[in-house]
Amino acid sequence: MPNVLFLTSLATETAALLTQHAPAGYDVAVHPIDLPHEQQIGLVRDADFLILFPGVISDAVLRSAANLKLIQLVSAGFDRVNVALCRELGIPVANNGGANSIDVAEHTLALILAFYRRMGEMDHNVRHERWKAIDSGATTYTIHGKTAGLIGLGQIGRRTARLLAAFGAVVLYYDPYPAPPAVEQELGVRRVELDELLQQSDIVSLHVPLNEATRGIINARTLARMKPTALLVNTCRGPVVDEQALIAALQQRQIAGAALDVLEQEPPDPANPLFQLDNVLLTPHIAGVTYDTWPRRGEFIFANLQRVWNGEAPLAVV
Ligand code: NAI
Repeated sequence: MPNVLFLTSLATETAALLTQHAPAGYDVAVHPIDLPHEQQIGLVRDADFLILFPGVISDAVLRSAANLKLIQLVSAGFDRVNVALCRELGIPVANNGGANSIDVAEHTLALILAFYRRMGEMDHNVRHERWKAIDSGATTYTIHGKTAGLIGLGQIGRRTARLLAAFGAVVLYYDPYPAPPAVEQELGVRRVELDELLQQSDIVSLHVPLNEATRGIINARTLARMKPTALLVNTCRGPVVDEQALIAALQQRQIAGAALDVLEQEPPDPANPLFQLDNVLLTPHIAGVTYDTWPRRGEFIFANLQRVWNGEAPLAVV
């Protein structure tokens, strides 16, 4: 039976929500991700499978993996793993295959609704004798009838499209790889070029992986294309947005606002100018993390390990 090494920052009880899906006979050793280097090297040498959360591993540890058949990430993002080195070493890397895409899509909707309905401020006001201090009839909005533009129509983009359509939004998307016509039809989405999406959308939501093509895809030039009433939502990766350009656009009210789960620097510098702006809503990179997400991810992960153990190709290879 396989030796599985799970390096993680998760609390023991949370890690157990995942490892409960290990098939009978699997030997799963759970260790903290910040274990000293030498110990990681010692452990990875004998492992058949390495599960990582967060997806961070040093080159030295990777090079010491003699038996690894798969590096299985618990997350969707894989930008902190040296995939080129893994390829050179012949170790496939898989992400979670969209197991938390619904969590991120729901969070995206939560951000849009919270921004449109000014939830944070309303809650604060009601508690502080400011009942109806906000003129909601003049400064809150409905999703219904708005145009939402999704940049990236992968696992999360598609889930988000479905939710937005259910709210009555018109959904556009930009992705260099067009979705099959049947998927476009089922989701009720239309593919447009990036500039058209920016010009037409009331809500622009980012769902791309971070790579050299997507780094800074939202910048001074693309922000200038957006409507003055537009809301920018980022639940993918901070550096996909040029944060300085966004701050300038928000300060000048060039766009209406931003709802951000991710930032260029995490945790952020307390002096980040975004924190001074009233047209910004922030959450701490938690879009994909709910209590309900772990069993879903565990199920996918151990089914994927079992495939490889049975001699089949892994799914969700990045
Ligand atoms: P996915 O791989 O299923 O979809 C990504 C889509 O982006 C693909 O359709 C791809 O063709 C498209 N794409 C690639 N380059 C593009 C470009 N230059 N312009 C437009 N589209 C482009 O990935 P998935 O599962 O939808 O996740 C997307 C990202 O969301 C992840 O890579 C991760 O960084 C982030 N994420 C954030 C979480 C959070 O907690 N905030 C949790 C989970 C994922």
